[in-house]
Amino acid sequence: MTARSSLTVVLAAGEGTRMRSSLPKVLHPVAGRSLLSHVLDAAAAGEGSSLAVVIGPDHQAVANEARRVRPDGQTFVQRERLGTAHAVLAAREALARGADDLLVAFGDTPLISAETFARLRAPLRQGAVLAVLGFHAADPTGYGRLVVENGKLVAIREQADASPEERKITLCNAGVMAFDGKRALAIIEKIGNANAKGEYYLTDAVGIVRELGLEAVVIETSEDEVRGINTKAQLAEAEAVMQARLRKQALDAGVTMIAPDTVYLAADTIFGKDVTSEPFVVIGPGVSVADGAVIHSFSHIVEASIGNKASVGPYARIRPGTSLGDGVRIGNFVETKAATLEAGVKVNHLSYVGDAHVGANSNLGAGTITCNYDGFLKHKTLIGEGAFVGTNSSLVAPVKIGKGAYIGSGSVITKDVPDDALAVERSQQTIREGGAARYREIKLKEKAAKASEPLAPPLGSRSGLRKRDVITANLAVNAAPHLPSSRQVRDPYSAADVVKGTRHSSSWRKPGPIITAFHCRRERGPSGARQWAFGVMGPGLCRDDGGDSSHSTSHAVIARSQGDARTRAR
Ligand code: UD1
Ligand code: CA
Repeated sequence: MTARSSLTVVLAAGEGTRMRSSLPKVLHPVAGRSLLSHVLDAAAAGEGSSLAVVIGPDHQAVANEARRVRPDGQTFVQRERLGTAHAVLAAREALARGADDLLVAFGDTPLISAETFARLRAPLRQGAVLAVLGFHAADPTGYGRLVVENGKLVAIREQADASPEERKITLCNAGVMAFDGKRALAIIEKIGNANAKGEYYLTDAVGIVRELGLEAVVIETSEDEVRGINTKAQLAEAEAVMQARLRKQALDAGVTMIAPDTVYLAADTIFGKDVTSEPFVVIGPGVSVADGAVIHSFSHIVEASIGNKASVGPYARIRPGTSLGDGVRIGNFVETKAATLEAGVKVNHLSYVGDAHVGANSNLGAGTITCNYDGFLKHKTLIGEGAFVGTNSSLVAPVKIGKGAYIGSGSVITKDVPDDALAVERSQQTIREGGAARYREIKLKEKAAKASEPLAPPLGSRSGLRKRDVITANLAVNAAPHLPSSRQVRDPYSAADVVKGTRHSSSWRKPGPIITAFHCRRERGPSGARQWAFGVMGPGLCRDDGGDSSHSTSHAVIARSQGDARTRAR
């Protein structure tokens, strides 16, 4: 039997307003590629298979995507959105060529598989004129209901036109249909728009086929396969279904994933044998991972090929145009872009390798950066085989590092380095004997000088202060670590509490109207003993005094602006 020819018409003229996006609905991605491309991929291709995509006016981007995925396909514009049958007729010219089978699918149903298309075509070989893909909907609201009598499909009733009885039917129209291609045009042209919405419904083809005394059948599939996407929530649901499928495929192909639910794949991800993906890995489009490679956690890979037994991450970012050879090691916080790393290259830590070619077995030390962009243009860095780039080196492109060359750590390389040369670019190190000790001495003196500056204006410099207006506070030195040292405390303190002078700093924290800030610092007294100096600042202000730690007491000398203060002479 010779293979039957086919035309697949994909309807994608809808606006997709419910997506609330400026991107046409069918261009939203699932598993790294557009909804439309999923459908186009499932559609029959190759000899005897043709494709038409019906798009809305001003949807050039959709046309471009269709052409990218299926250069052999044709696009047709539906000028007015008058219903699904009207949309199919936009591709009349293609229909008129009369392929054996005509398949109609929707651009917003990305989970449909090639096998289902094939299954739907099978009844046509047995003489059916129309086969409709059906599914049992958990919630049939909104779907066209398949009315079946004595095992025969007699009609599809759209939600708006269905009777209460018909609305109870859960067998629904998935939207994919296969027609006998020789009769399809005549059937679809008969469809009118006498319905609740005044649209030309493709689903009315069933009734017409029946009226002609011909046969229409239902082929069933699962709801997951025919989820239509109208909203972002449905987009996320479809993504979840697709990810589950891709993970299963990867596991079935022998990929080791201990937490597959945390690994995100693209529809075109290619895995070799014995690949391991640790948890929390994101793989975007265009990635292939060869045998025995390991992708460690938190790595992000897009449009790249990973060689045999290569190791990537954890925390690696592999950007488009990266090619990692066999056994390459990419470590944590390494980013690569448009870079070829030949077999055995190691870039183990904290590096950026962009617009570069790195010869086999070279080692790029931690912090190696290819400076590929001068603010206007990108330039290439070429590194020969077996080169060693020392830690924290900048390679300012365009630049070439020869085979077996050695770059000293911290170099900024702006000139080509010949094969087997040693390049060091950094200033001479100087040593000053005892320099650190001298430096410490100077700094300690500076610090001490600063510490003995007066904390507050001298006693009596503000209104109403007398030299005898002092409060002696009895502070245990062992309480001092709780106190702020050389800092102002903005809480108000009451004089009474100062007078009580208890052991714990917490007792200083009581609010009071008089003293509004408190200084405390550690210094050396005249005897050389450690002591605490306190300065208490009120609205009128004060001076500070010290207590000698050898006596286990400290004294705060406080002056107050108000004459009625409960102060006590020492
Ligand atoms: C359609 C079916 C319904 C089925 C459901 C499955 C019809 C009349 N109804 O309803 O039986 O259960 O899909 O999801 O077919 N389109 C155009 N031009 C138009 C109208 C639609 O290109 O003038 C395209 C849309 O972009 C979309 C597809 O056709 O990709 C379906 O249209 P939509 O309006 O979503 O149909 P539903 O109401 O979901
Ligand atoms: Ca729909």
